[in-house]
Order: sequence, then structure tokens, then C-alpha cells
Amino acid sequence: MPGLLRFPPNFLWGCATAAYQIEGAVNEDGRKPSVWDTFSHTPGKTFQGETGDVADDSYHLYKEDVKLLKNLGVGGYRFSISWSRIFPDGTGQPNENGLAYYQRVVDELLKNNIVPYVTLFHWDLPQALPGGWQSRDTSKAFADYAGYVSRKLSDRVSHFFTINEFECFTDLGYKTGQFAPGLKLPDGQVNQIRHQAILGHGLAVQAIRANARSGTQIGLAEDARVFAPVIENRAHIDAAQRATREENAPFLTAVLEGKYTDRYLEREGANAPKVEGGDMKVIGSPLDFVGLNAYRPEYVRADSSPTGYAVEPRPTSFPHMASDWLFVGPEVMYWAIRNVSDIWKPRALYVTENGCSADDVVTADGRIDDTDRVMYLRNHLTHLHRAASEGYPIKGYFLWSLLDNYEWADGYSKRFGLHYVDFKTQTRTPKLSAEWYREVISRNAVE
Ligand code: FCB
Repeated sequence: MPGLLRFPPNFLWGCATAAYQIEGAVNEDGRKPSVWDTFSHTPGKTFQGETGDVADDSYHLYKEDVKLLKNLGVGGYRFSISWSRIFPDGTGQPNENGLAYYQRVVDELLKNNIVPYVTLFHWDLPQALPGGWQSRDTSKAFADYAGYVSRKLSDRVSHFFTINEFECFTDLGYKTGQFAPGLKLPDGQVNQIRHQAILGHGLAVQAIRANARSGTQIGLAEDARVFAPVIENRAHIDAAQRATREENAPFLTAVLEGKYTDRYLEREGANAPKVEGGDMKVIGSPLDFVGLNAYRPEYVRADSSPTGYAVEPRPTSFPHMASDWLFVGPEVMYWAIRNVSDIWKPRALYVTENGCSADDVVTADGRIDDTDRVMYLRNHLTHLHRAASEGYPIKGYFLWSLLDNYEWADGYSKRFGLHYVDFKTQTRTPKLSAEWYREVISRNAVE
């Protein structure tokens, strides 16, 4: 068909989910609470007090969910493991029954020729760990858990993500209090928590390398801030790249460079993290790939300030999807990939999340015609195609999400799925966007 934008052969199309958002079964087979169980059960913390107690009940319905993946024709599925199913107390004795669930999921995927991509930490920290990420012991506990899981699963799983989105469980969890555990700590303590989180990542990379089958591919899934130049010319492009390094200094920059930028340390002054000998080397452990969760860009211009860039304030008329944070700027796909590639030259990249919430309505005859989601996805994939066609090493795309699910503090009020979920009956219905994505995958092209 003329006009189709074709992706490279072997480009991986996938979908993504996370344990606490879909599994439910929070008390089954030895699982103990995570900080998200505690937080969601605390009055006033989530939309209408909603919790992940049942969510999509994917713990029981996983075979049905694999069928949905199969019908889409995806080559990969990114899902996360609930740490407190495997180590109910965070450390100590592993729980075989918890692990067995993930072995069943992986087997079902492989039976259907879908490659499993496993995230080890998607925010559901075991409640039992004293102090959570405030303690350096948690970084070590995470590495032990990562080592254990990778040893047990790497016969069947060859891609692991250590951690999903540092900022969302450090800053939102310990600084603004919007997410679990809901604390509002001062900057110095928050910087230390951020440090312990990236240290946990680095220790986990080493633990996976030591325990998993050789050849296992290790990366992370990070929501780096993405800067698009206000106008695509040399000066603004350079400014966007300077902004990318500096504004991601506590997380992705530290992980990919094995050091904090001078400017970050100066800016934080006495609040800068206390770094122990050897930490930065661990944090900078080489990765096989970088995963980027990319939802919305920020716009940057070159200027004559000491940093050489200015981040533009967002006009109040800037359009967004159903979630008020989800501003629509499809070029986020291209600049996420290009900035990271140009600055750090990773061997491989994946878009580990992209997608949108929409006010889905079920018609009288049972259809969900989410033309707004299709519009969002089509435009984003067009920019993804640009990055692929310019030769950036982008290997695949995981759409968030396979199905409507528990959207954290927004509860069930924001639907991100390709499949509509009736949370009373657990019925899954493919939306128009599911049909559209199946077409993209079957042609390996976007129109
Ligand atoms: C990301 C999260 C994911 C989901 C999407 C909408 O920040 O990683 O769990 O909530 O946003």
C-alpha cells in the first residue's frame, strides 16, 4: 500500500502492564502487602478510595489476557513481578507459590510465541522493608530479589528491566506524597532516596549478571524528561540535549554516566546525596539496552543563561488526553530516542511505555470507538517511525496498556487499555484501538 510508513523487519511490537495494576489476588498464595496496598487502603489517598485488591483479576485470568495479546499479534509482552509475592517480607525466605504464578504466565506466553519482558520493580515495594527506600538496605534487598528471580526465570526469560520510572516512586512517593508511601520529606532526604533507588538498580544489574543465564539482556524502563527543541535547528537541538542531561541528572544521566553532573551537585549543595565509595561505579553498570517510557514532551529553547537552555512554560491551551498530565506532543517519541541516542549512544533502545487515557464510552451495540486514542497512537507511531528510519537503534515499542487497569492514585477513573474492562464482570472487550493496533502489527507499518 502506498503511503505506509514501514518499520524495520524484526521490529518488536508489544503491550505493557504492571503487577499491582492488573493482578488483584493480593492475599493469595502467600503474597503479603506492598506499600501500594497500604497506601490505597488509607482514606483520602486514591480516587474514591479505590484499591488494587481485585484490579483486572489477571492473577486468575492470565490465560485470557495472553489470548488478547495473541489476537493483537504482538511479539512481546512487558509485565512486572510483584516483589512481595516472591519475598513476602522483602527479604528472607522466597515463596515458591508466588514464583510459580510467574512461571505459569511465562509458559503461557511462550506457548503462544510471545516473548516475555520482565520488569522487576514497578513501585509495589514490600511493606515489610523497614523505611522503604529511605534505607540503603532496601537497595541490597532489591538486588537479592532480582538475582533470585533472574536465576529462576532466565531459562525462559531473556530480557529484564530492573526498575520502572525512578521519579514516580521516589519524588511522588517521598516528596509530594501523591503516590505510595505518601510521605513529604525534605529535599536532602529525597535526594538520598533517589540515590538509593539508582544504587538498587545498579546492584540489581550486577546480581542479574551473576545469576542469570549468560546472554541475558538487562536494562531499565525510565520516564526520562523528554525535551523537544522549539524549532528544529542546531542551536535549539543542542539546547534540548543539554536539558536532557541536566534535568535527568539524578536518574538516567547518573545511570548512563556513572556520575552526578557538577551542576546537579552544586544546585543541591548541602542537600546533595551522600555517596559511598564504589556507589557510582555500581550505578553506572553497563546495560544492554535502555527502555524509555515516553508520554509527553517539554519544549526547550537555546538561551544565554549559564545552562544555555530554557524550558518553555506550557500554554494553558496545550491539549491533553483524559489524564490532565498527558499533554499531546507526538514528537515526544522522536526526541526521547534521538536525545538519549545522541548523548549516550546506547546499544539498543525500546519504548517501554506509550499510550493514553481516554473517556471511553460503550455504545448500545457494545462497541468502544476510541477514535481519540487511535489519533494519539497514530501520530506517536509516525514519530517513532522517523526515529527508526533515521537509523537510531530502536528495537521495539510496548503500548501502555493491554487493558484498562488500576491507574494508581487515579484508581479506575482513567482508562488506558486497548481492551475495555468492565470491572464488575471482568469482561474484556477490544476497542477500536485494538483493531487498529492489530493492523499496524500485521503490516509492520503505520498509515
Ligand atoms: C506510567 C506508569 C504506568 C502507568 C502509565 C499511565 O507512569 O509506569 O504504570 O500508570 O504511566
